[in-house]
Amino acid sequence: MRVFVTGASGWIGSAVTEELLAHGHKVVGLARSDEAAAAVEARGATAHRGSLHDLDSLAAGVAGADGVIHLAFNHDFSDYAGAGRTEHAAVRRMLDTIEGGDRPFLLASGLASGVSSRPVTEDDESPFRGADSMRGGSENLALDHAGRGVRAVALRFAASVHGMGDHGFVARLTEVAKEHGASAYVGDGSTRWPAVHRTDAARLVRLALEKAPAGSRVHAVAEEGLRSRDIAAAIGDHLGLPTVSVAPEDADAHFGWIGRFFGLDIVASNARTRELLGWEPTGPTLFEDIAAGAYAPAELPE
Ligand SMILES: NC(=O)c1ccc[n+]([C@@H]2O[C@H](COP(=O)([O-])OP(=O)(O)OC[C@H]3O[C@@H](n4cnc5c(N)ncnc54)[C@H](OP(=O)(O)O)[C@@H]3O)[C@@H](O)[C@H]2O)c1
Repeated sequence: MRVFVTGASGWIGSAVTEELLAHGHKVVGLARSDEAAAAVEARGATAHRGSLHDLDSLAAGVAGADGVIHLAFNHDFSDYAGAGRTEHAAVRRMLDTIEGGDRPFLLASGLASGVSSRPVTEDDESPFRGADSMRGGSENLALDHAGRGVRAVALRFAASVHGMGDHGFVARLTEVAKEHGASAYVGDGSTRWPAVHRTDAARLVRLALEKAPAGSRVHAVAEEGLRSRDIAAAIGDHLGLPTVSVAPEDADAHFGWIGRFFGLDIVASNARTRELLGWEPTGPTLFEDIAAGAYAPAELPE
């Protein structure tokens, strides 16, 4: 398949690009800068210049493709609502372009669902709808097109897609721990995060591209819910720092933007995804990656 991948220069997108190329697909990666274009081409893919703000560039990328994997997102959390609106407009334009022909359209999503009494499953609908909701309500926007000639599939990534070189949430928690000389969690640390290794996530994306039916939600989840106090302790142990609790009212000041996400309690099942796609996660666990130095060298901060 010739696949248009947005976010191909990113953490997950670069692994997805390698996975697709290794399995005989062709990748055309959206690139908004010379650096991103060079990164995409260095992996053996073709760069397509454009941006999430340039809707014509997205339409052109989609028009020439047999399938689309949308992973780009602006992670500048100073304007999260604005990033959601940009996401909504970009997804809408790509869907309008791909409609008809039953081509796959996969998009990155998350596992926040409003369900708290049990693990979130692939059957649980996202509660977010509309451009002003979380991530622009893009998951539902896409899945609503499943009946309109689009093989729409939601890729729900665990809160931590981890591995060597990760610059995401756990990397930020590690930086915060170094800044404060202690690795912290909020309150009693009972909130949980799911996790998946990047190579397992990339393999799941490729399998979903090849065979997930229209309207599927797949869970890129290997560990269904790791307690935040255990994540903090793993970081603290690796850095040689104490692990401490931060009161909920002090969380914003202590953690900055990451506090909003570290305080979320999300547990998610992967049973249906494994059954649907024959996917079995095999990569290291988050704690194995932390202990192996994926987030910081094993030395005391200055
Ligand atoms: N990593 C995780 O743990 C995790 C967990 C849950 C969900 N997700 C979701 O999975 C997706 C991929 O995440 P990631 O970790 O790979 O993110 P990432 O490393 O931050 O990469 C983001 C990608 O989006 C591109 N991008 C950002 N703004 C853009 C714009 N305005 N126009 C065009 N491209 C733009 C970036 O391009 P440049 O190279 O030019 O910056 C980069 O390729 C995102 O939707 C993310 O929210 C990730």
